[in-house]
Amino acid sequence: MTLTIDYTNMMATAVTGGISESEWAASAAAFEAAHARFRELAASGVVGFVDVVTDEKLLAQSLAFAESAQEKFDDVVVLGIGGSALGTIALRTALLKPGWNALGAAERGGRPRLHVLDNVDPVTIAALLDRLDLARTLWIVISKSGGTAETMSQFLIVHARYGAAGLAPAGNFAFVTDPEQGALRPLARTLGVRALDIPPNVGGRFSVMTPVGILPAALAGIDVRALLAGAADMARRCETTDLRRNPAGVYAVLQWLSDTAHGKTINVFMPYSDQLRDLADWFVQLWAESLGKARRDGSFVGQTPLAALGATDQHSQVQLFMEGPANKTVTFVGVRDRDADLAMPGAFPDVTGVAYLAGHSLAELMGVELRATAGALARRGRPNLTIELERVDAWHLGGLMLLLELATAYGGQLYGVDAFDQPGVELGKQFAYAMLGRPGSEAAIKEWKTLPKPDERWQV
Ligand code: PA5
Repeated sequence: MTLTIDYTNMMATAVTGGISESEWAASAAAFEAAHARFRELAASGVVGFVDVVTDEKLLAQSLAFAESAQEKFDDVVVLGIGGSALGTIALRTALLKPGWNALGAAERGGRPRLHVLDNVDPVTIAALLDRLDLARTLWIVISKSGGTAETMSQFLIVHARYGAAGLAPAGNFAFVTDPEQGALRPLARTLGVRALDIPPNVGGRFSVMTPVGILPAALAGIDVRALLAGAADMARRCETTDLRRNPAGVYAVLQWLSDTAHGKTINVFMPYSDQLRDLADWFVQLWAESLGKARRDGSFVGQTPLAALGATDQHSQVQLFMEGPANKTVTFVGVRDRDADLAMPGAFPDVTGVAYLAGHSLAELMGVELRATAGALARRGRPNLTIELERVDAWHLGGLMLLLELATAYGGQLYGVDAFDQPGVELGKQFAYAMLGRPGSEAAIKEWKTLPKPDERWQV
């Protein structure tokens, strides 16, 4: 089982304008300090996303619930948004058979279909509600704060459907939320709904290894123990303060240096695997919401993460990556052994345009194209690195997710920002509350009223 990072193409030895050996050597001390500050946060219990990967009690909550719920449900629907949804979507795409929800029950091994409603578009929600058998559906309402407007709105609508159908809803819901805070806890008690914990020191986008991701994954039959074991293995690898041996440290420092000293303000995340395409969206949220911040000194920091997919985006965004502004790094994710492979037959030996493909396989083509694109980018002075997974399975995915979470946490320390808050999303929320008439929004209403009104000179 291996997970490696090859960052040759980030360095000046391979790429014009890359990171020099002296810069790299000098950053070891900055990393050591960042590592120490993060370790303090973890050791004092302020930040808990690493601890949860070995928390047997927390795991037991999900496993016990999943066991008791088995066979009762044909469909499981997650209601949540942001960090309460993206991890589950990434796990579903990576670790369940492609097209899972369209498979028959036998092909799913008797496990339920798994849906994630991570938006409040009524068209999507109404369509799903129309398709589901309410009695055979489990709704997992996930919200760390227990009060997110989008998730609570979904819950109210779904809950009312049970009343309208004359069904007692309690057994068809599970809540995943903070042990104390927010509206979901008291609601769980009032409604008699089972509630599972998100530890207070684990925030949304770092919560995939808590019941937020583990409960839906366990219900769908994903090997959650292997996921956590892979994450725990990565946590151990990242205990060292020796930068060269700490994979998350290497990732964080490479991106931070590329951004702050080389103008690489965009971080493209490009797996060469359909199974990992939604992992890119999960990473985008993690990197953006954690590191895109105003610092205390009034400066603004953060790399803009951008999702891409190989080989598909070779026929789309790669043109921009090659010849557009030289402001990007590219993170490729490659897979050594794929679950399936298909060989190209040797038909049409006289047609030069296809004959050369004979005898090669699709997995080989994916690998070759990744290396070719990485090499081409390097040739044009565009830095890139490759994370290689031995295979896409629960163990490697757990390792990769923890690597990226830790890199984000180190990134916060390197940039000098709090990676675990998101004050920038507050004002928009307050304005929305004001328009919806939520009590306590008087100040937001006042501020909203001072905004310029739509001006017909600037409308068409
Ligand atoms: O990462 C985060 O903290 C956010 O993206 C949250 O996950 C998102 O806002 C949803 O919040 P909650 O889980 O409190 O409903």
